[in-house]
Amino acid sequence: MSVSVLLPAAGSGERLGRGPKAFVEVGGKALLEYALEAFAWADEVLVALPPGHALPPRPGVRFLEGGKTRQQSVWRLLQAATADVVLVHDVARPFVVRAALERLLKAVAETGAATLAVPVPDTLVEDRDGAYGAVIPRERHRLVQTPQGFRRELLMEAHLEALREGRDFSDDAQMVLALGHPVALVEGDRRMFKLTYPEDLDLAEGLARAWNC
Ligand code: CTP
Ligand code: MG
Repeated sequence: MSVSVLLPAAGSGERLGRGPKAFVEVGGKALLEYALEAFAWADEVLVALPPGHALPPRPGVRFLEGGKTRQQSVWRLLQAATADVVLVHDVARPFVVRAALERLLKAVAETGAATLAVPVPDTLVEDRDGAYGAVIPRERHRLVQTPQGFRRELLMEAHLEALREGRDFSDDAQMVLALGHPVALVEGDRRMFKLTYPEDLDLAEGLARAWNC
């Protein structure tokens, strides 16, 4: 099973407030570098960079210009991918736990579509304009992570369908599900969190010091 890794890294990192996240450093290393190291084993790696950014050539890696939304960035990468299976991974998740990745690859090989996901640790509640609303049964919900893996042709079909319908999704698993194809939930790892808000940088710095996965 050949694997193309698609790295959407073209976001502007507005909520983090440090410029494009791909170039934000944690433990003295850019987030993009974490992903390039974690997926160095792949048959090919395709990276969507923010418009106007270029990086020196690197063996086995292709840099392309990203789009306006995450979906558009992934679509550009997907059109350039050639392997049987594609893994889509947010560069904003620098800590890739090898055991979780292995679980995901096994599920993709078996089912054609899978994502990492973790349980919801806290009470999950509806926000009714600042007031405590209905509690949502957290046992029946999951927080979705990346990587997400798909047979390449299946993800192509899902993106083409979304384009036809003019829909923009926040992740690829939703798009595949919208086609009517089930997506397996595979046990992720809380260390694979996404750096989104400024305080996440402190968590990431701490984890970078202890990292041995
Ligand atoms: N992404 C992308 N192209 C876009 C928007 C997002 O490739 N037009 C990527 C980001 O670089 C990131 C991933 O999608 O790796 C998840 O997005 P998110 O965490 O929302 O990052 P940003 O969009 O950069 O952050 P923000 O929404 O706070 O601006
Ligand atoms: Mg975003």
